[in-house]
Amino acid sequence: MKLRELIDKLELEEVLRKNEWITLLEEYTEEDAGYAAKKARLIADKIYGKEIYIRGLIEFTNYCKNDCYYCGIRRSNQNVDRYRLTREQILECCDKGWELGYRTFVLQGGEDGFYNDAWFEETIVRIKEAYPECAITLSLGERSRESYQRLFDAGADRYLLRHETANELHYGKLHPEELHLKNRKECLWNLREIGYQVGCGFMVGSPYQTSAELAEDMEFIHQLKPHMVGIGPFIPQADTPFAKEAQGTLSMTLFLVSLIRIMEKNVLLPATTALGTIDPKGRELGILAGANVIMPNLSPVSVREKYKLYDNKICTGEEAAECRACIDRRITSIGYNIVSKRGDYKV
Ligand code: 5AD
Ligand code: FES
Repeated sequence: MKLRELIDKLELEEVLRKNEWITLLEEYTEEDAGYAAKKARLIADKIYGKEIYIRGLIEFTNYCKNDCYYCGIRRSNQNVDRYRLTREQILECCDKGWELGYRTFVLQGGEDGFYNDAWFEETIVRIKEAYPECAITLSLGERSRESYQRLFDAGADRYLLRHETANELHYGKLHPEELHLKNRKECLWNLREIGYQVGCGFMVGSPYQTSAELAEDMEFIHQLKPHMVGIGPFIPQADTPFAKEAQGTLSMTLFLVSLIRIMEKNVLLPATTALGTIDPKGRELGILAGANVIMPNLSPVSVREKYKLYDNKICTGEEAAECRACIDRRITSIGYNIVSKRGDYKV
């Protein structure tokens, strides 16, 4: 009963205290999670209806200058076959995506100095010339405010930058010394101020994470008021320092998806590929827990296997059209519809 009262309180847009978050996250039962999921789904239905938005994900480089302990494409992983897509290849992905009904393209890559601002500007302009009605989302990591501004002025609409954890000490356990939570948060605030639709997010069950850190993640999300929040389970990758760490759970990920929907009602919330990786029905369950976005892969099949942030990633062998059809079937099976729209944040 007490837990449901906390969920109700969150729904009434009341701020939970840290110890209330911790109680909720440590003491919930599957019945409580079901209660939250139902509420979350009703809220999403009321704002976004039965529509689920798709984003075509183009993983254009797996070179990265960073060395995050959890990530499979960290610079010290010698077992990665590194690749970079050309602008022409990216545009071909967009052509294919447009035909398949995608109206948002997400350019995601490691932090790769090979591509400079001018290169991104030209790429953004070319995509927008070809498809003026599409939205462009960037996911390029930490950059200067000036760089974010230039890419926004070139036509980028949205930016994804997971904060990974809102706790300084925890951040230090997931990243090498040269990376700082303060910078990460500053990037997010800059992106917001510039006018991007901004997405933050974190991994559920990352090493050393406790309910106290998750409580801080929820508090940070509430402060930032992002337009999107990407969360998925942590999944170990064999060549990283966290190879032997435990995977995040389905239950906790779904519960957090619901809590984020209940707290930040209008947010665009993906049922992530990582969620689909730890359970064959993970993405469907994510939608039923309150998510309203899916981000299928649009990268050329020849490189998909090489963009492995974690092990057992799904959809590495399928063509874009296969994923599109698969997603359609999955979403229809639970009573929702994939729509061919930009899918902007609804105020
Ligand atoms: N397991 C799950 N998610 C991961 N990411 C990186 N490595 C892993 C992993 N091992 C997530 C990070 C990053 C996003 C692109 O992918 O949260 O921000
Ligand atoms: Fe890629 Fe199902 S979404 S095969």
